[in-house]
This record gives sequence, structure tokens and C-alpha cells, in this order.
Amino acid sequence: MTKRLKTVLITGGVKRIGLSIARILHDNHYNIIITYNKSSKQAKDIFTELNNKSKDSCRIIKVDFSKISNFSKFCGDALKCFGRLDVLVNNASRFYPTKIDQINEKSWIDLIDTNLKSPLMLSKVFYSELKKRRGNIINIIDIHINPPLKDHIIYNISKAGLLALTKTLAKDLAPQIRVNGVSPGAIMWPEADENKVKKKKDILSRIALKRVGDPKDIAKAVLFLIKDGNYITGQNINVDGGRKLNM
Ligand SMILES: NC(=O)c1ccc[n+]([C@@H]2O[C@H](COP(=O)([O-])OP(=O)(O)OC[C@H]3O[C@@H](n4cnc5c(N)ncnc54)[C@H](OP(=O)(O)O)[C@@H]3O)[C@@H](O)[C@H]2O)c1
Repeated sequence: MTKRLKTVLITGGVKRIGLSIARILHDNHYNIIITYNKSSKQAKDIFTELNNKSKDSCRIIKVDFSKISNFSKFCGDALKCFGRLDVLVNNASRFYPTKIDQINEKSWIDLIDTNLKSPLMLSKVFYSELKKRRGNIINIIDIHINPPLKDHIIYNISKAGLLALTKTLAKDLAPQIRVNGVSPGAIMWPEADENKVKKKKDILSRIALKRVGDPKDIAKAVLFLIKDGNYITGQNINVDGGRKLNM
């Protein structure tokens, strides 16, 4: 059995796209730390699945990034899991519309703290460890930052900020740490849109490859960036089946 030397932390990684990233990196011999908030059952399931595959190779940490007050403590807890961190994947995200008349302090804090402030604070607290390991930060962004998604004012701001964060950290944390983004197109319908047939048809008609992507497509892009992208930093890879050609 190949020894697991490196460790990755994936935020919001117990279901959907984050889960796929966790599985693919685990298959590629990383120790996995996954955070979750509300999905306790899915967290236990992936903990059991990965540790059954390879003894003591996965830890889970419960955290709400819209309420966390002590990022340094979170960092200390995470580093205790396997004694090191090589890759930080900022995947956790909140997504819902906020039209101009729906904007309030609560939705601002919820969306911005989860999608933007936490990736920044996590990058800060893990900086010295990632620098020591010549590590990677991967931010999961969204193709919709440009052009923005209608009626999603705060979400758009959070993800546009995440792209800015990706580029600025790539500059500031070089040469030891590479920082890149992966922007999914239509990969998994938002849970709230599962029954919206017309909306789905309309989106599909604008995707060059005429199909939605698979969470594995995102996971493989993440794996490529950290494993083979040795000369890539400050980039944002759109994984969208050509959707951006018709936006
Ligand atoms: N799905 C797509 O097609 C698509 C398209 C464009 C961009 N993206 C981006 O790709 C990433 C993954 O997408 P997804 O659809 O798989 O995401 P998702 O299911 O909407 O959310 C991923 C996880 O984020 C966690 N999370 C949300 N708020 C949190 C908070 N305040 N504190 C801690 N964790 C929190 C949730 O954990 P719990 O369930 O444990 O609460 C959730 O499982 C996201 O960054 C998303 O913006 C996805």
C-alpha cells in the first residue's frame, strides 16, 4: 500500500462536489480532513468509507463558517489531525438569490463570511504551514462571476471577491505557495432547482457540450492543479463544457 505523506483540507466536503474532490484526492494518496456543518450523517458516512479503505486516513471537523470566531483554534485542531497540511481547498459555499430588496445584514454575513471571508482567514491561519510544505490553495469559484448571475447580488460579490483573493494571494504567497481557482459551470443543480425543468433545459441549450458536468470533472481539475500544475499559479480554470462560449 502506498504511504500517505500529504494532507488536504476540504471545506464543505461531505457531499456533492466537495465529496468528489475528497474521494479523488484520497484515491491519490492524500490524507483527508473534511469540514461539514449541517450534514452530520454524510460526514459520518465518508469518514467510515475512507477509513475503511485506508486506516486512519480521514478526519472530519464540524464548523459553521458564518459563525466561527476563532480561526487560529480551528487551524490548531486541523493540524493536530495528521501533523501537517499541504493543500487547502476552499469549497464550502452558500448559494441563494438576494434581489436588491432582499438584501440585509443576515444574508450579507451568511454569504460573504462563508464564501469569501473564510477562504481568506483560512489562508491566513494556514499560511506558515503551507509555506513550509510548499503547498497549494485551491478556491472553488463559479463561472457566473462574469457575467454575474441575475438576482444573486451578494453571491456574485462573494465569488468575484474569491477570484480577486485567488489572484492577490497567488502574488503575495509566491514563490512557496501556489494559489489557483476552479470555476464550475452547471455540474449539479442547486438542491432548490431540482424540479425546475424549463430552467434546466434553457441552461443545457447554452452549454456547448450539451450536458451537465460531473463532480468528478471538478475534482480532476483540482487534482491536476495540485499534482501536475507545478508552473501554474493565479489562474482560474473554467470547467463548464463550453458554457462560457454562450453566456
Ligand atoms: N453545483 C454546481 O453546479 C456549481 C456551480 C458553480 C459553482 N459551484 C461551486 O462549487 C462548490 C461546490 O458546489 P456544491 O453545489 O457541491 O456546493 P453546496 O452543496 O451548495 O455546498 C457545499 C457545502 O458547503 C457547506 N457549507 C455551506 N455553508 C456553510 C457554512 N456556513 N459553514 C460551513 N460549511 C458550509 C455545506 O455543508 P453542510 O451540508 O455540512 O452544511 C455544503 O455541503 C461551491 O463553492 C459552489 O459555489 C457549484
